[in-house]
Amino acid sequence: ATVLEAVPAAAPAANTAQPVSKEVTILFGSQTGNAQGLAENAGKTLKEQGFQVTVSSMSDFKPNQLKKLKNLLIVVSTHGEGDPPDNALSFHEFLHGRRAPKLEDLRYSVLALGDTSYEFFCKTGKDFDQRLEALGATRLQPCVECDLDFEEPAAKWLEGVITRLSEGQGQTVPAQPTAPEAKAVETVYSRKNPFRAEVLENINLNGRGSNKETRHLELSLEGSGLTYEPGDALGIFPENDPELVDLLLNELKWDANEVVAVDKQGERLPLKEALTSYFEITVLTKKLIQQAAELLDNEKLRALTASENAQQLKAYIDGRDLVDFVRDFGPINASPQEFVSILRKMPPRLYSIASSIAANPEEVHLTIGAVRYHAHGRDRKGVCSILCAERLQPGDTVPMFIQPNKNFKLPESPETPIIMVGPGTGVAPFRSFMQEREEAGATGKSWMFFGDQHFVTDFLYQTEWQKWLKDGVLTRMDVAFSRDTEEKVYVQHRMLEHSKELYKWLEEGAVFYVCGDKTNMAKDVQEALLEIIEKEGGKSREEAEAYLAEMKKQKRYQRDVY
Ligand code: 2AM
Repeated sequence: ATVLEAVPAAAPAANTAQPVSKEVTILFGSQTGNAQGLAENAGKTLKEQGFQVTVSSMSDFKPNQLKKLKNLLIVVSTHGEGDPPDNALSFHEFLHGRRAPKLEDLRYSVLALGDTSYEFFCKTGKDFDQRLEALGATRLQPCVECDLDFEEPAAKWLEGVITRLSEGQGQTVPAQPTAPEAKAVETVYSRKNPFRAEVLENINLNGRGSNKETRHLELSLEGSGLTYEPGDALGIFPENDPELVDLLLNELKWDANEVVAVDKQGERLPLKEALTSYFEITVLTKKLIQQAAELLDNEKLRALTASENAQQLKAYIDGRDLVDFVRDFGPINASPQEFVSILRKMPPRLYSIASSIAANPEEVHLTIGAVRYHAHGRDRKGVCSILCAERLQPGDTVPMFIQPNKNFKLPESPETPIIMVGPGTGVAPFRSFMQEREEAGATGKSWMFFGDQHFVTDFLYQTEWQKWLKDGVLTRMDVAFSRDTEEKVYVQHRMLEHSKELYKWLEEGAVFYVCGDKTNMAKDVQEALLEIIEKEGGKSREEAEAYLAEMKKQKRYQRDVY
């Protein structure tokens, strides 16, 4: 747990109001780091206001401490089909179980992060909000549900929380001047103020004839002061495909040069530019359909958002973009200004970093799978991956920021063994790990499982892996090429083939990492891991699950999955 140093509390006010505790605990559940960043910022702000603040990951929090808390703030995201982030799983389960205590003395508020293009928008946050109420706790302020552009609603939530936390003290909390942070500010660049990094290199890692296109991108951080650690991610603010923007403008029949306001701060852009770089045009969300129904006063759209038509709505928005929408429900009888104000701000795309800064000073490398598919009668392209694959040239610049990920880190000791499972683009952070360990002269054993479709065309970074093996930076490597044989072989099959050895590594304290596809691969790899623990450890399923839970607690089972 990060305990932020408390500023001496203000002298108690002489008044008759209930004394209100100045102790605030902020728990976050974060997969990609957004919730963690917001929790840490909230912690800083509250500290500046004179509160005693503890910020902690849910996974580091001991549930038996719950009864002792006075004020609890929860910042938590939701993924996929309403799933909590990995580091929220056990706390979420505990709180919803029978062992959860009554919490009548607790005041709380929840900040929920999510994505309105998913059906179970902000489900985890809503769960916590409702469950804490059911356990008798007092809601300080309603749960705020944020979409991908979370900055503004999150700031409003915090403002409200501070007001409510301060109530009942008879006086507002005096704003305390804070001591300057011990750590000097290294960079002025952030998600809010992205750095335009120059592209140094951009190549296709797959060979001719592959079904895949995986880009290796090298960006320059020169002059930015930006730095990162293995396991961190990088966010890119992409631009939409100019062909798609033209198609949309054609459908709308509006003047591409008409100037529109794009945000509340009054930034104004010509329509074409706004649709290219400011707004998301490739995803339809329920919220968008609802707002469009009102804007266009359209009964068909209203019906589509009715709760009994949830399945129809899902089927409609799935795989469709704004061009489809305008074709299906146009003409848009509204002004360009009205129309853009229902659009969502373009969210940045996050990629696991594939390099070590120690090995590549002032550089950062990415491994990006190009997304192309056909849906509803048209070819579709992933916004950012195709920008990288088709339009970004060496010499161009791209707005980016570093997204630290504290849930995916090399062990502190360079002697600790590591096992890495990273098929496809999941290989990225492990290239970073190997570069870092090579640079540090680390002596710990390492074992890599890689997989992709074909050996000849898809063995990403093959020569680098072979060199690390030869030099002893990598101890062993097992590969699974799924489409070279009649029967598919996947990374988890390789794990099972070497179950005895793998279990031995676990018993020796190895940290087990998984990166890549969440829905299928990561699930199957976890299942294989449990089977191995059962078989080689002579354990029941329950005991194997407890073993894995203990590994998680010790941060020896880490996932970076998407
Ligand atoms: P496939 O495309 O032949 O099914 C990287 O994309 C590699 O992961 C590919 O070889 C892919 O195989 C494989 N893959 C697909 N589903 C998987 C799963 N459930 N578990 C592990 N690997 C999987």
